[in-house]
Amino acid sequence: MTTSSLQQAAGAPALPATPLRFILYFVAQYRWWYGAMVLLETLSASCIILIPYALGRIVKTVGASPQHSQELVQALQGPLWLFIGLCIGEVIFSRLVGGIQFRLGVRQRQNVTRTTYHYLQHHSHRYFSSNFAGALAHRISETSMGVTQTLWMLITEFWPILIILGLSVVLLAQANAGLGLFLGLWAVVFLSMSWILARRGHRYAFAAATARSATTGNVVDSVTNVANTRLFARLDYEREHLEGYLGHEKAAMTRSISYSEKVRWVQFSAAAFLKAGLLWYALVLWGNGRIGAGEFVMAVSMSLLIINEVRNLSRRFLELFEAIGNVSNGVQTLIQSHDVRDRENAADLRINAGRISFDDVGFAYEKEKPVFHHLSLEIPAGQRVGLVGFSGSGKSTFVNSLLRLHDVNSGAIRIDGQDIRDFTQASLHKQISLIPQDPGLFHRSLRENIGYGRLEATEPEIVEAAKAAHAHEFIVQMKEGYDSLVGERGVKLSGGQRQRIAIARVVLKDAPILILDEATSSLDSVTEKAIQETLDVVMKGKTVLVVAHRLSTIAHLDRILVFDKGAVIEDGSHAELLAKKGAYYRLWSRQSDGFLPETPEPIQSLAS
Ligand SMILES: Nc1ncnc2c1ncn2[C@@H]1O[C@H](COP(=O)(O)OP(=O)(O)OP(=O)(O)O)[C@@H](O)[C@H]1O
Ligand SMILES: [Mg+2]
Repeated sequence: MTTSSLQQAAGAPALPATPLRFILYFVAQYRWWYGAMVLLETLSASCIILIPYALGRIVKTVGASPQHSQELVQALQGPLWLFIGLCIGEVIFSRLVGGIQFRLGVRQRQNVTRTTYHYLQHHSHRYFSSNFAGALAHRISETSMGVTQTLWMLITEFWPILIILGLSVVLLAQANAGLGLFLGLWAVVFLSMSWILARRGHRYAFAAATARSATTGNVVDSVTNVANTRLFARLDYEREHLEGYLGHEKAAMTRSISYSEKVRWVQFSAAAFLKAGLLWYALVLWGNGRIGAGEFVMAVSMSLLIINEVRNLSRRFLELFEAIGNVSNGVQTLIQSHDVRDRENAADLRINAGRISFDDVGFAYEKEKPVFHHLSLEIPAGQRVGLVGFSGSGKSTFVNSLLRLHDVNSGAIRIDGQDIRDFTQASLHKQISLIPQDPGLFHRSLRENIGYGRLEATEPEIVEAAKAAHAHEFIVQMKEGYDSLVGERGVKLSGGQRQRIAIARVVLKDAPILILDEATSSLDSVTEKAIQETLDVVMKGKTVLVVAHRLSTIAHLDRILVFDKGAVIEDGSHAELLAKKGAYYRLWSRQSDGFLPETPEPIQSLAS
């Protein structure tokens, strides 16, 4: 996928969708710092490799004068100062790089996290329902690590190696063309060999990492289900189950490690060949009088230095591939087109009355299975409407379309006569409140969870909202009251308590359109009755949609829509629909206690 085919939301950062361009996007933001690092690494590597050169010159000078003399001391001054200067230079330049690295590293990692998270926020409801939250969070952190690791490796490891090899070849070639050629050939062979071996090793390393994460996944799954394990008395079984994963992991790890070990054999042999070969060749040249003692010393100490620098090059290539692989995975998962986008220069929607119209709407999650087919519907401002129908008949889809959690395929949805696609999603969402069946709460204090409805709400306003939602009673009974934390997604509260918090925050939000999707389903009948009164107050002057399976909760509303397979088959008030003796009547009379029958089997008879 290229950047041009990517359709991105206007407010989101324009991130490229290929790993290389993705990395460059972030490099560009700190280009001067990266430039400085490359320059300093070049200087530091040059110092390192010029040290043998200075050493060579010292030896040459010493060799040129037969005995100790004042002239010798004079002559040695130059090369000696060069030597000292290079040693100091290496320390200073490499530490300067270190200084930039630790400052830039933290910033860049956070910058990648911040930017990709911002990008992720603009993904649609559909995207989030097909990706695990934990997996996405993991991807973000792997990607940000991957970007910095890739850059560090390229700048602080591979670049200096290239400089060192290049400069050595030049210096040696100046001393003797043959020596330069020898090192040059060796370097080319060594680099390509390391690359090829690492590429192959990447497969094994990848398999080992996959096996490792499968083990972790299994442990997580077992721990999550530990109650099942205990209640079915399957402790031994679970341990055996884990053994299977461990065995597989061991095999994969062994393959990967033994491959690395083989690679090390090859590399160490190549290093030994360079050491011995260069020494021997330099000796031969010296013997023939083609090079002096100075060049000889330089060549030999250079070979030792190079070996020190390129040791484990395959290992480093492997790490580089891994880091790039992480970036590539992250980019693939995170940097996709945003399905629901604001139009360019979209204005803010202003809902005055709250009239809702569906105009010839068609929608399908999957092409071959359309949910809505030419659905047209008008809901006047201020009307309170109940939506009923069997599970899967399209009630939530109806509500989600109005919230623009997905775009409809044909037709239009209008609020006060304005197509919702012409306005920003943020302005739409600010003016519609939703209380879902299973409201998720943040693992933050109850105060913050309620205050989410209106960030500037004062303490008394929050308490008032909580009282209206009948949440205050149980909140003050908790040890830390409004400061209590609620656990991940609110697990430390009961379903009914969570719903009351969700109602309280919607009371604070006070939007002109209110939607309740099975919002009172987890409440006992006493609490429900109490909250119903609050809701009636909250509903005043608003357009309200209430999805409910318990017909008694919607019977008193102004109007009832009966959904069946994505179509509205009946429309009218409770009394009208009962008098009609149709689908609603059948549902009502079958509900002994106000619930819809569980089995969807009578769907056929609903429409008939
Ligand atoms: N994210 C999705 N991807 C694919 N199909 C979906 C998705 N969500 C819902 N559907 C399908 O769309 C149809 C309508 O579902 P919807 O959730 O609107 O029903 P519902 O009336 O709200 O049901 P319930 O009363 O159980 O909440 C169903 O056939 C369902 O399988
Ligand atoms: Mg639903």
